[in-house]
Amino acid sequence: MKVGENIYAVDGICTHEYSDLSMSFMNGGIVTCPLHLSQFDLKTGEALSLPATESLKSYSVTIQGTSVFVEMD
Ligand code: FES
Repeated sequence: MKVGENIYAVDGICTHEYSDLSMSFMNGGIVTCPLHLSQFDLKTGEALSLPATESLKSYSVTIQGTSVFVEMD
């Protein structure tokens, strides 16, 4: 996800229950789950509010020219 000039990559499924975060609300660097409204920091994946307590997995992103590379484990 792009925030300003930066691109971040996190898991797309909420850690609370199964909810697709591609349907989420984004405000700055914060993504809000559409189901129960937990918020996550897009930079780190950290869960910022209940009911989610587990962070999203975040991935290293490298930009080379017009290409974006995401390092998956
Ligand atoms: S499924 Fe995301 S907060 Fe509950």
